[in-house]
Amino acid sequence: MTLTVTRNATEGLGSVSSGNALELRGVTKMFGALAAIEDITLSVRPGERRAVLGSNGAGKTTLFNCVTGDFLPTSGTIRLFGEDVTTFPAYERIRRGLRRTYQISLLFGGLTVTDNVYLACRGVSRGRFSLIRPRKGDPLLTRTAELIEAVNMTAATDTPVSELSYGQQRQLEIALALAGAPRFILFDEPAAGLSPTERSELISILTGLPSHIGFIIIEHDMDVALRVAESVTMMHNGKIFKEGTPEEIENDPEVQELYLGDGHG
Ligand SMILES: Nc1ncnc2c1ncn2[C@@H]1O[C@H](COP(=O)(O)OP(=O)(O)O)[C@@H](O)[C@H]1O
Ligand SMILES: [Mg+2]
Repeated sequence: MTLTVTRNATEGLGSVSSGNALELRGVTKMFGALAAIEDITLSVRPGERRAVLGSNGAGKTTLFNCVTGDFLPTSGTIRLFGEDVTTFPAYERIRRGLRRTYQISLLFGGLTVTDNVYLACRGVSRGRFSLIRPRKGDPLLTRTAELIEAVNMTAATDTPVSELSYGQQRQLEIALALAGAPRFILFDEPAAGLSPTERSELISILTGLPSHIGFIIIEHDMDVALRVAESVTMMHNGKIFKEGTPEEIENDPEVQELYLGDGHG
């Protein structure tokens, strides 16, 4: 019994002193008999920028869903800034600074850019249930303008979302993820479907984020991943296949074989 207490105490101290933004240990998510992710162990430091690569069905989005609380893992533990959040609902993780963007747009199409960002700011602030209209000088309006600028969309402030280009919609989603005080963001394929110009824009937005905000970006395009991430986790069939610096991953013969084998070029 003493032994158990000692071991738990050490584990508790270890997880706090390790100071990771995100720490997964042995995380598995089953869908019936299918392990969408299996025994994933992963640590990301505060402020670290990590890319997760892997072909369709590798388990990347499932990994995100477990981290955000959209899915409960079948087994394993998830720590956010040292705290075990494995069974916490999504909003409790959001309160602790976790944000995500989705692979598919989830915007209010009839509202303007400002309205969407303002609502996101209201959603994570106190008094979010009040129905009072914003007034000039409302600090949330100032914050809204800052976030729109952070994603280079000041020229489109009053444009309805339905009139934005696809690339601008993806940029707006990043602004929404920045509402409140994010400390760690999960981006699910933000570059998918973007033109080369929109891609460069995305890269400059991501590299321009405040340095205390860490993120994981799911990305098919090796060029984007290499330019925004300092570390790479490569997934295959629900498992971690390789981890390393972008250069190590790019030059790894097994990774090259896997990518070529999957037709990614
Ligand atoms: N909600 C779900 N129900 C059943 N199977 C799922 C569900 N979500 C994902 N899967 C399966 O889990 C595996 C991993 O999917 P996913 O995490 O979406 O991969 P990726 O994002 O890497 O393309 C796939 O085989 C997929 O069909
Ligand atoms: Mg996916």
